[in-house]
Amino acid sequence: MKERTLQIPYSTLTHDELSPIEQELERRALEAATGAYAPYSHFHVGAAVLLANGEIVTGSNQENAAYPSGTCAERTALFWASAQWPEVPVERLVIVAINSEGRVPFISPCGSCRQVIMEAATRFHPFPILLCGSEQTIRIEDCRQLLPLGFDGSAL
Ligand code: THU
Repeated sequence: MKERTLQIPYSTLTHDELSPIEQELERRALEAATGAYAPYSHFHVGAAVLLANGEIVTGSNQENAAYPSGTCAERTALFWASAQWPEVPVERLVIVAINSEGRVPFISPCGSCRQVIMEAATRFHPFPILLCGSEQTIRIEDCRQLLPLGFDGSAL
């Protein structure tokens, strides 16, 4: 038996350390979060996707009285981007969230969203993901690292 360890490199940045386009993505994600349909959790999530053609696509969580029928902000944005521009790679994904007390310190994508992020990365190329919180942003340069040993379809 061999013991092995996976490490996930990430960096933390202040708001001012984000590039102008990343600041714009954060602003757009926050705008999207305010439009979330979250009457059950009251947790408002916003995602902004930058595409290689320069388009910014945003999404928010869309809840449902039948809870599993709702979906997360990340998937709303990524699926909408893919439906509108099926041939255009994703270059960045920014996520923010607001709860009843305001901006949360940290928002991390759920497992299903990580799987969908993985698909977008393997379909085109890996891209950075930025988890923008109230005090700082966590930046993961290669989004696939959020799903270690993930299923990417290569074995199909
Ligand atoms: N949610 C997202 O939209 N993205 C995440 O990364 C985590 C959770 C949503 C799903 C649900 O509407 C609410 O947040 C509470 O889980």
